[in-house]
Amino acid sequence: MDGNGRWAAARHLPRRLGHRQGVETVRNIVRAAGDLGIRYLTLYSFSSENWKRPVDEVNDLMGLLQEFVRRHLKELDENGVNVRIIGERSGLAPHIIDIIDNAERQTRNNDRLFLVIAFNYGGRTEIFEAAKRFANDVAIGKLGVDAVSQADFECYLDTKGIPDPDLIIRTSGEQRLSNFLLWQAAYAELFFCEKLWPDFRKEDLEQAVSHFAGRERRFGAR
Ligand code: IPE
Ligand code: MG
Repeated sequence: MDGNGRWAAARHLPRRLGHRQGVETVRNIVRAAGDLGIRYLTLYSFSSENWKRPVDEVNDLMGLLQEFVRRHLKELDENGVNVRIIGERSGLAPHIIDIIDNAERQTRNNDRLFLVIAFNYGGRTEIFEAAKRFANDVAIGKLGVDAVSQADFECYLDTKGIPDPDLIIRTSGEQRLSNFLLWQAAYAELFFCEKLWPDFRKEDLEQAVSHFAGRERRFGAR
């Protein structure tokens, strides 16, 4: 989800209002994803690099997660949405961790749509932390290093149990992964959309999905 700031700047509004409008898009796109039969939707909503932004903006983004959960958790739950948050918990304020834990707990039996929110997430950190825990389990003899598979290693990632993404969409014309799901994105189709995130609509999601449907995926085979 990129382009909230530019959306606001184009309207001479504070960035905060761009983020706020971005949350409206989140709500619409979550609903649209459910309607389209998408089972897993992952939103990159706060990267580990976003701490470098001015403290006011960081606070706004933290506040929006809180507000999103407060306003929409009930509706998400009623619609069978299973909410899961990936990313580093350490470094987040205790009340944010409570909100996250509560959202996961409340929706854990739902299975219509798995909504994964990457929050304080960075792909390299995820892989590095997984590697450390993995190495520790080898060191204490819990795992034998020759017997383990990539699937065993994947259990150490935040996305344990979540399938790899088929399609990654980035809005606002930037063509980078920016540390998003680095391990999991190995075979993902990439779709870059010029629209700014607050302008992104169900039609754009449908366009991305049909574009995806037209691509031939061979996973390296022929
Ligand atoms: C994305 O919009 C919001 C998040 C950080 C999730 P930006 O804030 O990056 O908007 P631009 O790139 O400045 O337009
Ligand atoms: Mg940006």
